[in-house]
Amino acid sequence: MTTRSLFLLPGDGIGPETMAEVAKLIDHMNAKEGAGFVTDQGLVGGSAYDAHGEAISDADMDKAMAADAVLFGAVGGPKWDDVPYEQRPEAGLLRLRKDMALFANLRPAICYPALADASSLKRDVIEGLDILIVRELTGGVYFGEPKEITDLGNGQKRGVDTQVYDTFEIERIAGVAFELARTRSNKVCSMEKRNVMKSGVLWNEVVTATHAAHYADVELTHMLADAGGMQLVRWPKQFDVIVTDNLFGDMLSDVAAMLTGSLGMLPSASLGAPDPATGKRKALYEPVHGSAPDIAGKGIANPIAMIASFAMCLRYSFAMIDEAVRIEAAVAKVLDDGLRTGDIMGDGARPVSTAEMGDAIVAAYAAG
Ligand code: NAI
Ligand code: MG
Repeated sequence: MTTRSLFLLPGDGIGPETMAEVAKLIDHMNAKEGAGFVTDQGLVGGSAYDAHGEAISDADMDKAMAADAVLFGAVGGPKWDDVPYEQRPEAGLLRLRKDMALFANLRPAICYPALADASSLKRDVIEGLDILIVRELTGGVYFGEPKEITDLGNGQKRGVDTQVYDTFEIERIAGVAFELARTRSNKVCSMEKRNVMKSGVLWNEVVTATHAAHYADVELTHMLADAGGMQLVRWPKQFDVIVTDNLFGDMLSDVAAMLTGSLGMLPSASLGAPDPATGKRKALYEPVHGSAPDIAGKGIANPIAMIASFAMCLRYSFAMIDEAVRIEAAVAKVLDDGLRTGDIMGDGARPVSTAEMGDAIVAAYAAG
């Protein structure tokens, strides 16, 4: 029987509460469908700091590196505000991203029909929306050197960040975008600012060359990133896959996310390079939201972002497309049935708990 290894890092705050609902789905799929998931669990963030003085232990780091995929909840909270910088909860996530070399961040923006009226945009603009932002995650202006504040000696200081991209970094993120597009509507829009940035000129050249060499079957367009931001809110359905750099991707993915709904709904995936021997990519799946200390421990967090992250895991790490689609359909079904956690409620409805929402999604999945 196939075994599929998952390393679970629930983390802090609502992380363990939402991960518990994914665990129900995993148990169901193992028991009823012979899915063969083998899970192990570790500590990350503040809870790891409390246990062994660092945001993730070397032992757990090794397990994350060895697993087929990592499911990550959330980290942080006021309890750890005064922890030394190197050990702060976020350091656990940053180390995972760095050591696993997760250079491709995937953020889908999907409109669930039942929530179309909760958007700040008109229903016809977002109904049926299904786009994917592919953001470069390990390069660009967040990491480029020099990165410093210098004293100019005349009462002035200078803050410097440096946007740097090498050919291979652009090639590999473009490759991810084109390959994903082939599994969707076969369209990629690349966004940069070639009109004012040298790195944008190179980005445009390399994406164009990668397309011509390996992905000519995919429709490729280019857009300046600021115009892209406008088009995302004007008519987002014109896009399928958007590929862009770390900085523009940070902003554009937040814009795209908010077209459709609450933080409690939004999944993400972060992928590394394929292993030359097996072709498998290291991968980490996590909701976009944080540990939500204001509602932690109350059993009212929305588990959909975590469950949808697991669906992405099935799709991208295990090619379990049918199961991923069924989970997403189960989420749509319970929303159609009127189930809402507090964060996505309209006026007057009674909110369900985290566990009630999770149980309903497992039941809808089992029936679907
Ligand atoms: P947050 O995402 O934790 O919460 C923002 C607001 O959205 C809160 O009102 C929260 O109750 C609500 N919310 C978030 N997820 C929800 C869910 N699943 N269901 C219902 N409501 C939800 O962001 P915030 O408050 O800025 O940060 C809280 C802590 O989380 C901080 O320590 C921060 O550093 C950390 N954080 C961690 C992240 C991660 O682990 N990847 C990402 C963002 C923040
Ligand atoms: Mg952001």
